[in-house]
Amino acid sequence: MSARSLAAILLVGVVALPTVARVAGTPAPARRTVYTKQLPAGEGQDLVASKCQTCHSAMLITQQHKDSTGWEKTVTLMEKWGARLVPEDHATVVAYLLRSYGPAKK
Ligand code: HEC
Repeated sequence: MSARSLAAILLVGVVALPTVARVAGTPAPARRTVYTKQLPAGEGQDLVASKCQTCHSAMLITQQHKDSTGWEKTVTLMEKWGARLVPEDHATVVAYLLRSYGPAKK
């Protein structure tokens, strides 16, 4: 190895190392769970927990805000896709979702 290439390697080390150290030392942005998987207590909670979480996590529900028409449509769609709810349970689930995840307050 020639003296020139040795000098080049040393130079790269001197320039690159502090850069690598600086990047490695940067703290990663904090991870935040914005939407919970926890369903709020109330009539209908156990129905949603047992009938709606067979295909996806509750997070898909807890991140929503819908009015009564919106929840009615969603629950009807989920039933078409395979959620098994008898008619009384359908109404209980829609009411629970509306109470817990109604329209967003401004
Ligand atoms: C047979 C499987 C299945 C069941 C049971 C099920 N879902 Fe879903 N759900 C899906 C699929 C598939 C999606 C679409 C997922 C995606 O877009 O990543 C979805 C999406 C959703 C969404 C987000 C999309 C939207 O329209 O807002 C909500 C909210 C939701 N489901 C609520 C429910 C509720 C409430 C129940 C219980 C009544 C339920 N799901 C039961 C399969 C199911």
